[in-house]
Amino acid sequence: MTLLFNVDTERADTWQQLFAEQAPDIDVRLWPDIGDPADVRYLATWLPPEGIHERFPNLEVLFATSAGVDQFDTRLLPASVQVVRMLDPGIVRGIVEYATMAVLALHRDLPSYVQQQREGRWQELPYVPAHQRRVGVMGLGNLGQAVLRQLQGFGFALSGWSRSAKTLAGVQCHAGEAALPGFLAACDILICLLPLTPDTRGILDARLFAGLPRGASLINLGRGGHLVEADLLAALDSGQLQQALVDVLQEEPAAADHPFMRHPQIWLTPHIGASTLPESAFEVLLANLRRHQRGEPMQGVVDRQRGY
Ligand code: GLV
Repeated sequence: MTLLFNVDTERADTWQQLFAEQAPDIDVRLWPDIGDPADVRYLATWLPPEGIHERFPNLEVLFATSAGVDQFDTRLLPASVQVVRMLDPGIVRGIVEYATMAVLALHRDLPSYVQQQREGRWQELPYVPAHQRRVGVMGLGNLGQAVLRQLQGFGFALSGWSRSAKTLAGVQCHAGEAALPGFLAACDILICLLPLTPDTRGILDARLFAGLPRGASLINLGRGGHLVEADLLAALDSGQLQQALVDVLQEEPAAADHPFMRHPQIWLTPHIGASTLPESAFEVLLANLRRHQRGEPMQGVVDRQRGY
């Protein structure tokens, strides 16, 4: 059973060591030392190597080392190859931390206070209790749900929107295109945690921003492709939006002169919301490999039609 890793050198060594210690029956190879490509049954990678099916004729499972799988054009993969996204508890923790940090910063008016400090002003802004602060999450998969569970502890007024109907205790859930305006109208803080698919590309646009209450704020923790960057700039300029926290961009890494870089109403971070840590992801990957070896369904298998 050969598993090939195509990841950065530092993480590759950790993966290899974990397998050597805890699953020595699995033959782990590290890119570019592929050996005989016909041996490779499993490939773990962030980006799909070109010509994957010609190169690895016996590939059975492609394990994404990321939570999102939009970087793979799954239509180019043979139907026999299963694509599995990474359900690493470390990613969940990272996203929950980032979202909580961002929501609390916005809730407690940190951007305004930072600005005031720069201007040498000492001035109290009106305090809004958490139960009056409406926080909405777009995307109710494992990440969106974990964020909502954490935010519940602060007592925020929570809602969620997803493609298919979900029921979450303590969260006003909305589903589908028709329910989007009602959801948006009740979001002071909007968090995007959607998967990037043809349906959700560019969803954070002028029309969506116009549907938010005036002065709302945005946190984009999804993908750069969700956001129409020029529309965000316009919404901030017009006062429709007050602030944005952005962790992902259309083009990464961002150029030094990207308009978000020095924008006073945008806090930009370089795609650090969460990243897969071999230490926490190992058990998830191994459990899936064992399921596959036993002929059982794996967790996190991507539905090619839906794209996530
Ligand atoms: C990171 O963005 C991921 O998808 O894991």
